Amino acid sequence: MDLKFADAAKVSDDERAAVDGLLGPAGTGWEGGTERTDEDLRWARGGAAARDRRDLLLPALHAVNDRVGWLSEGALDYICRRLTVPPAEAYGVATFYSMFSVKPRASKVLHVCTDLACAARGGSTALAEGLGPDVAVQPSPCLGLCERAPAALLLQAGAPSRGSAPPAPRGSAPDPAPQSPAGLGVPGGAEYYATAVIAPAGVEAVVSAVNAPQHAPDEPPAAAAVPQAGDPGLVLLKRVGLVDPTSLDDYRANGGYAALRRAFAIGPAAVIREVTDAGLLGRGGAAFPTGRKWQATASQPDHPHYLVCNADESEPGTFKDRVLMEGDPYALIEAMTIAGYAIGAHQGYLYLRGEYPRALERLGNAIARARARGLLGEDVLGQGYAFDIEIRRGAGAYICGEETAIFNSIEGYRGEPRSKPPFPVEKGLFGKPTAVNNVETLVNVLPILTGRAEETKLFCLSGNVGRPGVYELPFGATLRELIELAGPPGAMRAVLLGGAAGSFVRPDELDITLTFEGTRAAGTTLGSGVVLVLGDTVELPRILLRIAEFFRDESCGQCVPCRVGTVRQEEALHRIKDRTGADAADDIVLLREVGRAMRDASICGLGQTAWNAVESAIDRLGAYE
Ligand SMILES: Cc1cc2nc3c(=O)[nH]c(=O)nc-3n(C[C@H](O)[C@H](O)[C@H](O)COP(=O)(O)O)c2cc1C
Ligand code: SF4
Repeated sequence: MDLKFADAAKVSDDERAAVDGLLGPAGTGWEGGTERTDEDLRWARGGAAARDRRDLLLPALHAVNDRVGWLSEGALDYICRRLTVPPAEAYGVATFYSMFSVKPRASKVLHVCTDLACAARGGSTALAEGLGPDVAVQPSPCLGLCERAPAALLLQAGAPSRGSAPPAPRGSAPDPAPQSPAGLGVPGGAEYYATAVIAPAGVEAVVSAVNAPQHAPDEPPAAAAVPQAGDPGLVLLKRVGLVDPTSLDDYRANGGYAALRRAFAIGPAAVIREVTDAGLLGRGGAAFPTGRKWQATASQPDHPHYLVCNADESEPGTFKDRVLMEGDPYALIEAMTIAGYAIGAHQGYLYLRGEYPRALERLGNAIARARARGLLGEDVLGQGYAFDIEIRRGAGAYICGEETAIFNSIEGYRGEPRSKPPFPVEKGLFGKPTAVNNVETLVNVLPILTGRAEETKLFCLSGNVGRPGVYELPFGATLRELIELAGPPGAMRAVLLGGAAGSFVRPDELDITLTFEGTRAAGTTLGSGVVLVLGDTVELPRILLRIAEFFRDESCGQCVPCRVGTVRQEEALHRIKDRTGADAADDIVLLREVGRAMRDASICGLGQTAWNAVESAIDRLGAYE
């Protein structure tokens, strides 16, 4: 690809329409318009205005990819002109994400999950054999549909979306809210591509979805992923299956917005105090105290402050945030409003992984309806507080869940983590004080403010269990109790706790207490709540290879220990996949050395944890002995 400004005329009508649909028509020749205008004589001004919109680069790439299916040189060139982004940088961004292609490809792309939970249930690209040249088949890391494994996701560019008008709220006139994803204020549209989630993905289901994604059977309700649905002990999942996730009235009738009212009644400092006193720890994996994070952000003199909700959920085996967002989307919108109020932010970004079409639709609908009813916008609940939320779609990059990579991704740069310090609370999104919180963390704030004392944790059960799904248990339950609920396999080989970045435990270690401290004391981690149960027929070396492949693929490549270490780790695991004992000994020594270097010298958590699971398999499970 020629990385320089070329003749903007090479952009096709469809590509131009996709970009203009997001940015508005080009006003000047400077921006890629066909006519030169007086504005063109003021280059400096035009350029600055365009550069201020750099954060629309990712949405612009989505807009073209949705409509045309790939990003041509002409389209990239036109986007670069409109946003004044150097072409080499835009190319670097476009090629960073697995959902984009800079080469022509079929308009239908089938993402087939080949990750741990799906592989354990027969998921493989063999499902898509013989589909023909009209479909590009792309092996995918975890699609977050583990309870219905094996899973696949079909995206068809340029096709009308399902026209998913939400039903009118029960017992009330419809809100004056937009009725389709087209009008939901998600930059980058999402209205020009059709999606079909296929899970479980059998050959027949795949073929019929590929033939007509708009007519693929509806997904089961979010509550189908919650085996405990309806249990009176649920706190975070209590509304999933009970409320109509499209209806604001239903949400309010079931306790919705009581927490925000209380927040306004007690003021931001008291909100932070209550969250701190409750001892809430972040659920995104690092278990950082949320109250401290909010206090540190709120106290920064620099303004504006931002809130970022991390809904990138890409840790293999994690799907709890998806179930919350699909089943109780208003809860997240209310919780974000409270968090924004507490830290003094007026703008929140909800960074949602690109592979969650139903969550996108539900959250877009919830935001639009909340805005129409004065629960977002200039004067929330008539309290003189302004707050709004914008959804940003990820595009297939696990690393963008890292809290500083998310900033770069939103700002229109490659999703590469930043060195810390400075920490996000000082210099985060757009260089301003920012609190980043996980979906589950935020939803926890609602029961804290409404007086529900018992703290619970969500767990994602998958693999060889009878009832995979999201489970909610009070802190302090044991791993054995959790697995009993989900229906353990007859004979168990191991349990992977915390996902690919977590570690394995043995069947004789199931009395581990499921708290952050309990798992730490046992030399493992709760991480993002993954509990992948592996029966005794599983081929451990293949699972380890898949984990290593995942990290090699998802490493952003920015720092040497991780970029090179993840490759060396995968190579060594390939060499010993059929070896044991003395035959594997040299490579195990090498793995330990490489693992230590990655842990000690990588910039971010990806490299620092890329060796955890392999190390635990060697040391705890005796893999390769
Ligand atoms: C490679 C990597 C991926 C991550 N992915 C996610 C993610 O998908 N969702 C999430 O909430 N946190 C993720 N995190 C953790 C975030 O960096 C951050 O700690 C978290 O969003 C903070 O929110 P919390 O305090 O509410 O947990 C990831 C971290 C790393 C290193
Ligand atoms: S540790 Fe890996 S993912 Fe993180 S910055 Fe370095 S290369 Fe990128």
